Amino acid sequence: MNIVLLGPPGAGKGTQAKRIEEKFGLIQLSTGDMLRAAVASGSEIGLKAKAIMEAGQLVPDEVVIALIADRIDRPDAKRGFILDGFPRTTKQAEALDRMLAEKGIKLDHVIEMKVDDALLVDRIAGRYTCAKCGAGYHDRNQRPRVEGVCDACGSTEFRRRADDNAETVSKRLQAYHAQTAPILPYYRAQGALKTIDGMAPIDAVTGALVRILAAPTAKAPAAKTRPAAKAKPKAAAKSRPKAKRRAKTAPKKAKRPVKPKDKRKAKRPVPAARRKVPRRAARAAAGRRSGARRKSR
Ligand code: AP5
Repeated sequence: MNIVLLGPPGAGKGTQAKRIEEKFGLIQLSTGDMLRAAVASGSEIGLKAKAIMEAGQLVPDEVVIALIADRIDRPDAKRGFILDGFPRTTKQAEALDRMLAEKGIKLDHVIEMKVDDALLVDRIAGRYTCAKCGAGYHDRNQRPRVEGVCDACGSTEFRRRADDNAETVSKRLQAYHAQTAPILPYYRAQGALKTIDGMAPIDAVTGALVRILAAPTAKAPAAKTRPAAKAKPKAAAKSRPKAKRRAKTAPKKAKRPVKPKDKRKAKRPVPAARRKVPRRAARAAAGRRSGARRKSR
């Protein structure tokens, strides 16, 4: 199963991606995390991205498209992935479609997490993560069970993102509305977009996502992974009953017009016997009677 999570900064994409990742055995592919790793490593991409990210702007399309193309090709993404923070522009969405088409992969769900801007600044300002495993927390909404200790790995080191300050957040929100929100109609037009309420409590949002992902349509990709040899007879077997149904219904339709004909045929002798013969006989008799009358006059 392959999923795109869309939503403004702080909508909860990362939080939910981590939960779905575990539940459905998928891999979270976060372009934000990849870029932050590039910045931390001091790579060429990182050097390019650092200032852009700190200014709350979007990193150039070519850079993130190349990052994702490379990441999707790795073996751990073959089981399915959750794209978190990608695509973010129409150009990225189109590039993703092309990339997936070339690889014969399809997107199963594009899910928008809708949250009012007013809530987002508070969410982002209160956010921090475990420095060791990356587990996410919030000063008020999602505190570790033991204060100062990561629930997931027990680490006591935490960090806050360089772009998580009020000024940068408002720029990131502007970038979202100007460059990312326009891709919603793109996916809506494809019939792929589903929207959930990202303002609900974290568990309720997870529940809404799970309901979408566990719905029957989400099981379709499993058929894709079946060996071709087994898939063929199944497909043939599937198509056969349809053909049979069609064959069964066809004679029924053909029989229908026959019945009335038969009925008409069966009925014809009755009126013929009733009307034609007596009338002719009557006419002949009448003729004989009138001739007899004429003769007698
Ligand atoms: P990125 O790292 O992708 O950041 P973002 O999209 O701005 O999203 P965030 O990670 O800030 O938020 P989130 O939705 O994941 O929320 P979270 O779950 O953490 O991108 C960073 C930068 O990288 C960009 O600005 C850009 O420069 C660059 N970049 C990345 N991808 C790019 C691309 N494709 N193209 C170009 N540039 C790119 O939740 C936030 C907080 O809220 C947490 O503390 C959490 O505990 C809390 N919370 C979550 N859900 C709830 C809830 N339901 N109720 C209450 N609290 C909640």
